[in-house]
Amino acid sequence: KIVPVILSGGTGSRLWPVSRASFPKQLWPLLSENSMLQDTALRAIGSLFTDPIIVCNNDHRFLIAEQLREIGIEKARILLEPIGKNSAPAIAAASLLVEEENPHYILWVMAADAVVQETERLIQLVEEAASLAKQGNIITFGIQPTRPETGYGYIQKGDKVSDAQHAFSVKAFTEKPDFQRASQMVESGQYLWNSGMFVFSAQTMLQEMGKYTPELLSSIQTAIQQRKTDLFFERIQLEDFEKVPDISIDYAIAEKTEKMLVIAADLTWSDIGSWDGLWDISAKDEVGNVAIGNVVLENTQNSYIRSDDMVAAVNGLENIVVVVTKDAVLVTDRRKSQDVKRIVEKLILAN
Ligand code: GDD
Ligand code: MG
Repeated sequence: KIVPVILSGGTGSRLWPVSRASFPKQLWPLLSENSMLQDTALRAIGSLFTDPIIVCNNDHRFLIAEQLREIGIEKARILLEPIGKNSAPAIAAASLLVEEENPHYILWVMAADAVVQETERLIQLVEEAASLAKQGNIITFGIQPTRPETGYGYIQKGDKVSDAQHAFSVKAFTEKPDFQRASQMVESGQYLWNSGMFVFSAQTMLQEMGKYTPELLSSIQTAIQQRKTDLFFERIQLEDFEKVPDISIDYAIAEKTEKMLVIAADLTWSDIGSWDGLWDISAKDEVGNVAIGNVVLENTQNSYIRSDDMVAAVNGLENIVVVVTKDAVLVTDRRKSQDVKRIVEKLILAN
């Protein structure tokens, strides 16, 4: 069996004012009736999988437990971090939990903020990945890039793995390149985007962490040994977690390991990072608008307008985002919606 691991630690600041530190984007029903966390958990249900492990912040424990109950997942293990330390510590912690049961078990790590449309196809690819992971590989899923996105990791595809159907060796992994480098990589046709999903055995990941980030591994080992477990949650203690280095799995392991393979995944995947990203994958009307809630539009095109309560009326504009919540209104050029995170930084500083 494969152990699904869902990372749900990000705050999603580019999707402000809907996404807040206290109620981040992955917990909102932004695309369907379910939240992105629920949709992610539902992808990994069935006879191939164990109950999932969710790694998240302590503040979100009740929201997350409740959302899992809503979709019928009663027995998830919920590992709570007192503070965010990025994805490498979260993955190390999950690997250690699994290792306690059996170091050969296979983990499937998923981000809680991505959308994949073809679930059945994805599961087939995960099965292929799991059989390669049993041989000591770390498998990632590569997506054909469509633009020089600087917020993603890029994987340079090498030779086809013999006997495998969709797996290739990895020549290089480059996390978040600058725009020029990203443009070159997309043009060369040799690179895939890192989808942020990984499949590996607990033993392989922990060995690689011992090799490339030994301080991180030993500080997480202490944190996991000292965790406090009750009926519903497993809590990492602040005094242990404070000492853990803050680093993503991409910089800590993916850029360094020689055990990485990539599955070229023919999937419709998107990372729901910004309002523009959300507009991109949402169903639109005939003039390209996404209008949600109490919205009136006149002579407006290619825009994302959302208001849950108050009436939001827009006239004579295009390519904009308007999001109205109880206590905040966002108006931005849709193509600059990545910069919303700077507004959030300013607001945090101002408070
Ligand atoms: N538990 C926990 N704790 N999870 C975390 C933490 C943390 O401190 N920080 C981030 N995460 C989770 C996020 O919630 C998300 O599900 C996942 O880890 C990835 O983190 P992001 O912060 O969203 O990373 P990114 O989008 O900048 O980059 C990653 O994903 C891209 C694809 O979406 C990288 O893996 C890129 O290489 C990749 O292309
Ligand atoms: Mg992300």
